[in-house]
Amino acid sequence: GKHGDHGRGGLTFKPVAPNTDDALTIPEGYSSSVVVGWGDPVLPDAPAFDFDNQSAEAQSKQFGYNCDFVTLFPMGHNRALMWVNHEYSDERLMFRGYTGGAAATEEQIKIGLAAHGGSVVEVERVRGTGQWKLVTSGRRRYNRRVTAQTPMRFSGPATGSDLLKTAADAKGENPIGMLNNCAGGTTPWGTVLTAEENFDQYFVNGSKTDPNVARYTIPTGVSSSSRRFDRVEERFDLAKHPNEANRFGWIVEIDPFDPDSTPIKRTALGRFKHEAANTTLTRDGRLAVYMGDDSRFEYIYKFVSDKRYIPGYDRHNRTLLDEGTLYVAKFTGDSPASEIDGSGKLPSDQAFDGSGQWIPLVSGSKSFVDGMSAAEVLVFTRVAADKVGATKMDRPEDIERNPVTKGVYVALTNNSNRTAAQVDEANPRPSNKHGHVLEIVERRDDAGATTFAWSIPLVCGDPNDPATYFAGFDKTRVSPISCPDNVAFDRDGNLWISTDGNALKANDGLFVMPVQGRERGYVRQFLTVPVGAETCGPLVTEDQRSVFVAVQHPGEVDGASPESPASHWPDGGSSQPRPSVAVAWHSRGKKIGS
Ligand code: FEO
Ligand code: CA
Ligand code: CA
Ligand code: CA
Repeated sequence: GKHGDHGRGGLTFKPVAPNTDDALTIPEGYSSSVVVGWGDPVLPDAPAFDFDNQSAEAQSKQFGYNCDFVTLFPMGHNRALMWVNHEYSDERLMFRGYTGGAAATEEQIKIGLAAHGGSVVEVERVRGTGQWKLVTSGRRRYNRRVTAQTPMRFSGPATGSDLLKTAADAKGENPIGMLNNCAGGTTPWGTVLTAEENFDQYFVNGSKTDPNVARYTIPTGVSSSSRRFDRVEERFDLAKHPNEANRFGWIVEIDPFDPDSTPIKRTALGRFKHEAANTTLTRDGRLAVYMGDDSRFEYIYKFVSDKRYIPGYDRHNRTLLDEGTLYVAKFTGDSPASEIDGSGKLPSDQAFDGSGQWIPLVSGSKSFVDGMSAAEVLVFTRVAADKVGATKMDRPEDIERNPVTKGVYVALTNNSNRTAAQVDEANPRPSNKHGHVLEIVERRDDAGATTFAWSIPLVCGDPNDPATYFAGFDKTRVSPISCPDNVAFDRDGNLWISTDGNALKANDGLFVMPVQGRERGYVRQFLTVPVGAETCGPLVTEDQRSVFVAVQHPGEVDGASPESPASHWPDGGSSQPRPSVAVAWHSRGKKIGS
């Protein structure tokens, strides 16, 4: 337009109002459609989805449950491979009359195993638009389902460690399956990094005396909420196979262009409840990976490879994630502790900010942590981070570097358990229901740096709440935002934030905020998702003509069931809800955000 994009982030759309509608709501002038949802065909021989006649065999060929991370690998202008994580199954919504894992049929438990993992699907653009559709005919040679039963391998320094050995895998090299893959990232060589998050919930009978079991909140008995995977695969019973739980909680690398490839659990990146893994290059060309551990009072991590990324030298690049240093973040505030009083009021220097350092934990076979071997640091990374005095954060979710400004942004989703005595300048709000967003500026804007400056540009919530902060922007103009989860950037460097768990009595959604210029802090809501859903993805495509979101767990409301669904999205009528990936685009082909 004639006003240009200067200082405006190019964002001119009319924000969507908070609502509780059972719909995907987008701004005026935009269109949306569902790309692929639970039960849709992934493998060419997948049967048609039938809610009342499900089988594990069918599910292992169909799109899994609870889509989360979404990324696209272009194959020309109008075709792409899409990778999607399937974080977890919700049997109460998947099966009629489900009362828990103890009473479930073995087939239901096997469907649950097959509903996890991820999918590779071919998608194609509706020519001349930002709309993308699932390819449903032809060979689809790359299409693939990865599940909780897919053979994988370990790579990196902890491979073959005694801590990873089991009766079925005496060498500690070949884990089976991945679980609770939440968000993720991609590598410069065109593979997916997918993050195993809340893997603890799948196990029963963990040791009651092993502090490492407690540190990862692994169940020590059999609870009524367990899916009871142990009933069909004994390895999930830790009384019989205590090390099996150590084989989950990793970053998994998957090559979408090689459907026969074995997924790789990269041990050099540590084991915790991984939210995501986003990569960038250091000033000298090495690979840096930013990662969060999404639990209350957990930490933020960075891995930096020893060697440089060499464009086109694939064999070399695929070793980078095995050799490097794993760091954990420590944040130090620059205001007196007395000024961080928990009221949400800014300290006298008018900013929650300070300096920080990346503390090394382990590099190859060298441990930097007293009393722990390198393998122990990698397998029990939380324990190592405790020992070096890292900063306990308000649930670190997604973390990603802004390709334009080079700042690194972290979504800290919430932490209702933080007490007034536990606030610090990086986590300044007690009973933090709505979360905040942290900005890290590494020294010389170098992802290889070990020191940084940081600040909090966004303290989420109702803008009328004095304990919120929108980077000093006029709070009468911003959208309310609560529980930031995933972050992404468009090519202009605007920060896109999706939410999970909106505590403002409205549905979750997708928001955008410029991080520089006069509109820094101007949060606007771009879409809302249906009842009970969280917003995942998100992905603004490189050409900025499409924005993808994963609509996870529509209808997941207390007491909901197939007999009384809380959502009928996306199929409408009296249908059961289906977690699905949707795409939105400007109806006249303008840039997303116009
Ligand atoms: Fe699976 Fe931390 O969201
Ligand atoms: Ca300060
Ligand atoms: Ca998430
Ligand atoms: Ca989440």
